[in-house]
Amino acid sequence: MQIDLTGKNVLITGGARGIGRIISLTLAQSGARIGAIYRSDNSAAERTLAELHALPNPVDHFMLQADITDEQAVERAIQAAQERFGGAIDFLILDAAQGAYGELASTSTEDWMRAFDTNVHGAFFVVRAATPYLQRGGSVVFISSGAGHDPLEGLSAYGASKAAVNHLSTVLAQELGQRGVRVNVVSPGSTDKSGTDPNTDPESYTEKQRDIVTTTALRRLGIAQDVANVVLFFVSDLSTFVTGQWLRVNGGRL
Ligand SMILES: NC(=O)c1ccc[n+]([C@@H]2O[C@H](COP(=O)([O-])OP(=O)(O)OC[C@H]3O[C@@H](n4cnc5c(N)ncnc54)[C@H](OP(=O)(O)O)[C@@H]3O)[C@@H](O)[C@H]2O)c1
Repeated sequence: MQIDLTGKNVLITGGARGIGRIISLTLAQSGARIGAIYRSDNSAAERTLAELHALPNPVDHFMLQADITDEQAVERAIQAAQERFGGAIDFLILDAAQGAYGELASTSTEDWMRAFDTNVHGAFFVVRAATPYLQRGGSVVFISSGAGHDPLEGLSAYGASKAAVNHLSTVLAQELGQRGVRVNVVSPGSTDKSGTDPNTDPESYTEKQRDIVTTTALRRLGIAQDVANVVLFFVSDLSTFVTGQWLRVNGGRL
């Protein structure tokens, strides 16, 4: 089956940079129109918008600046997005997140709050504001993390915030199912987000990357395209009877 997203509107948080940039480009390559929310990196937003507009299919993609931890800014951004989209959001991708590193007992209040403010409260504000515009046949995809499923030392605040995301995604799947909207989670493991593939030259792996590869069943690094491909599956008609699921994209790394 060809995946054709022509005419579909995608709202993605964090879609200007990192893994989100590759998700934006991948969905746009299948014909979708992208509206991406970013926080502050204007030059990344401009670069990604130019890349989107350089794709062969002529679609009017756009970027919106908003901090998703600011409830009112989210309301304004979703309002602006739905107006640009003509009222309909088909796919909502929640990619924006903040990391927080360190052992639980030495995590600062600031780090703890930043992780929860962005990853949980921010996602909640976006979902609440965008839900009225989601269409039957639509799809919500949360980008979570392996750290939200498995206890990883040094990732307590981040992991706990992602575990909350996993939970709210399954509740949302139950609540939106009767409206014909599906909700799923993609949980990357450690992922190279440079946009190039370091696996083409394993000799150039850093020591840390080599450690990751030797503990990964498929013996290579995960790349942003691996994550984007699964997002594409979750928004496409290949997964029309799949909702409330969490899928780890980690090459079988334990
Ligand atoms: N990279 C990995 O190895 C990995 C592993 C597991 C899970 N993940 C998950 O994958 C997703 C993408 O990760 P990434 O590494 O690609 O992230 P990234 O490179 O740090 O990019 C994050 C994006 O989110 C935006 N953002 C952050 N805070 C925001 C806020 N408060 N309001 C609006 N936008 C905000 C950023 O905007 P600005 O650039 O303007 O700040 C940026 O566009 C995240 O959910 C992350 O938890 C990543």
